Amino acid sequence: MSEKPWGGRFESPTNEFVEAFNASIDVDARMYAEDIAGSRAHARMLCQQGILSQEDLDAILSGLDEISGEIERGEFEFTIALEDVHMNIESRLTARIGDAGKRLHTARSRNDQVATDTRLYLRGRTDTIVAHLRKVQRVLVELADRHADTIMPGFTHLQTAQPVTLGHHLLAYVEMFERDAGRFLDARTRMNRCPLGSAALAGTTFAIDREMTAAELGFDGPTANSLDAVSDRDFIMELLAAASICAVHLSRLSEELILWMSAQFRFIDLPDAFCTGSSIMPQKKNPDMPELVRGKAGRIIGGLVAMLITVKGLPLAYNKDMQEDKGAVFDALDNLQGSLRVFGDMLPGMRVNTEIMHKAAASGFATATDLADALVRAGVPFREAHEIVGKSVAYCIREAIELHMMDAGACAAIDPRLTAAMVGALSVESCVSARNHIGGTAPAQVRAQVSAWQNRLEQLNA
Ligand code: ARG
Repeated sequence: MSEKPWGGRFESPTNEFVEAFNASIDVDARMYAEDIAGSRAHARMLCQQGILSQEDLDAILSGLDEISGEIERGEFEFTIALEDVHMNIESRLTARIGDAGKRLHTARSRNDQVATDTRLYLRGRTDTIVAHLRKVQRVLVELADRHADTIMPGFTHLQTAQPVTLGHHLLAYVEMFERDAGRFLDARTRMNRCPLGSAALAGTTFAIDREMTAAELGFDGPTANSLDAVSDRDFIMELLAAASICAVHLSRLSEELILWMSAQFRFIDLPDAFCTGSSIMPQKKNPDMPELVRGKAGRIIGGLVAMLITVKGLPLAYNKDMQEDKGAVFDALDNLQGSLRVFGDMLPGMRVNTEIMHKAAASGFATATDLADALVRAGVPFREAHEIVGKSVAYCIREAIELHMMDAGACAAIDPRLTAAMVGALSVESCVSARNHIGGTAPAQVRAQVSAWQNRLEQLNA
């Protein structure tokens, strides 16, 4: 029984099932490097403050080094009997170096330890996610550059609305991913405070130097309130919220790729390497990756909801409920990172059927707004222009023609102010190039945005 680091006051052993059920080692073993880094910083600080001898510190540091090697070589045996990564490593340390190992936990609790390790680990993961976001942005900017002039139908209500450029459409996602990166980095700033030294909940009676451990671990400084520090999981909720919004963005892009690849659209084709076939229907090529990524949004948002509900109504300070935090956030970030990775690798191989896109843009009366605008320029009030073009569209539907095919007689019959020259001037090219202002879909604007993004992403790389 005394094998448990907390076994002193217990008379009978833990229930066998409870031992497994209680353990978090399966989930938190991945934080071993952060746990070791935290212990090193803590031990150095204890030594500097005269709480730990130099010999003990040396033994602890080299013992932790060896343990780190064991874990990396796959030789370390994590056990559920020792519940979590913190107690597994500490017990192993003591087994290796004896009494010095038993002194490491002076002025520390697992409560500040787990809060510190989790922040450290998620800080690293945040940086990786942001790097993946940057990669996806780069790939999209590259595609937008290639397709600055490619015309496609823009939709509202998934009905043909106005022609847009594919480059413009893709850059819309670059904007979304920029805000996503901003949310992750913003969460990182708030996350980057060190809880170490908060101990169980109230702080410690030892004369610790919290500035030192915070600095050594790359934090911006120590947390200011020990109770908050050990019970705060805002950083996890924030990351999950950022991940959820990002996953929602990916799901929208996924949905568009799925639609665009269908036999009804035929706008694009995704590379074989990212699709699968059907076991019964030989003709099938399914866009599995965008579908799966669209689906991942569900479980990532599930993680956010789970975390919010877990923390809701929890009294201060640490409660065992909080052990559920890591599973939720690790799973969400793993899946988000995987989704971003797949998109970063898949999108460059996307083939675009520019002719079909153009044809789709030129049908469905996508130029109708521009005809109304032409009437307005000729002095017709917009509401009347709208009515005139509406009647023209109805006429074209009856005659099965496009607006630009209307002859002078047909125009005059609808309204004397509508001329054959006006309808004759309609083209999807002029529709897009006329929208030449900041934020507009004109190829010139797309090119300007592309070069602005290229500069920004290059600077971030440097
Ligand atoms: N395994 C625990 C967790 O992940 C570590 C902290 C445990 N603290 C405690 N007092 N039981 O939350």
